Amino acid sequence: MDALRVEGLTRRFGGVVAVHRVSLDVAEGERRAIIGPNGAGKTTLFNLVAGKLSPSEGTIRYRDTDITGFAPHQRARLGIGRTFQRTNLFPSLSVCENIRLAVLAQTDRARRILVPVERFADVEDRVDELLDDFALAHRATTEVHELSYGEQRQLEIALALAGRPSLLLLDEPTAGMSPAETSSITEIIAGLPREVTLLVIEHDMEVVFTLADRISVLHHGEVIAEGTPVEVRDDPNVVEVYFGGAG
Ligand SMILES: Nc1ncnc2c1ncn2[C@@H]1O[C@H](COP(=O)(O)OP(=O)(O)OP(=O)(O)O)[C@@H](O)[C@H]1O
Ligand SMILES: [Mg+2]
Repeated sequence: MDALRVEGLTRRFGGVVAVHRVSLDVAEGERRAIIGPNGAGKTTLFNLVAGKLSPSEGTIRYRDTDITGFAPHQRARLGIGRTFQRTNLFPSLSVCENIRLAVLAQTDRARRILVPVERFADVEDRVDELLDDFALAHRATTEVHELSYGEQRQLEIALALAGRPSLLLLDEPTAGMSPAETSSITEIIAGLPREVTLLVIEHDMEVVFTLADRISVLHHGEVIAEGTPVEVRDDPNVVEVYFGGAG
């Protein structure tokens, strides 16, 4: 079954067509990489799927619900989680406090008001679990601005997972990381539960090859190729436009 079905998606900014008639079918549990040169429309596509932007044309379905007109929080409630290309943390709060806020933000507001204070133990359990899963337990009380850049990106993925998303959108999770940080974050992403459908924008081809079941290549807002990593690597269109003919 398809988890995500995007059909004929177009987004214009004035005269610029950032995303042009993009169609994608992403299966439940699939790990799909979105690659393409700078300005290809990758982040815009994520913003359309997450609901930060509305499409000029086209539809987005998630698990048989047409979510095209849904607000971001409605999509989050259906299980769509994301990270941002640039960091989205509270720098003067600790790692633990940032995670706690993300967990609380995902807790149903009405229930939160009615539930006795002891039930907040559930929240603390979830915070501890995320600290452990992301190897951040030793940094729990560290203020975020004191973390390395790589640790901050790692924390962002932990925050995105706070709401137990069934579809996770990661926008360049390894951007600006050292080689050591890149392999550590790649390992963490590879170790995510297999039932989480993953869409990852990534420039590092080694990371793409490690993570992706399938790859979609965007160029000037259009999908110019799609297939397994090997199929895409050997696609003459991709070699021409994405690798500048150098391959
Ligand atoms: N809010 C906006 N207003 C106007 N133009 C925009 C806006 N967002 C994106 N664009 C334009 O849309 C095109 C696609 O941008 P987008 O950020 O989606 O590309 P990208 O593939 O994520 O690039 P990068 O690899 O550099 O992150 C670019 O030409 C960009 O300038
Ligand atoms: Mg981008």
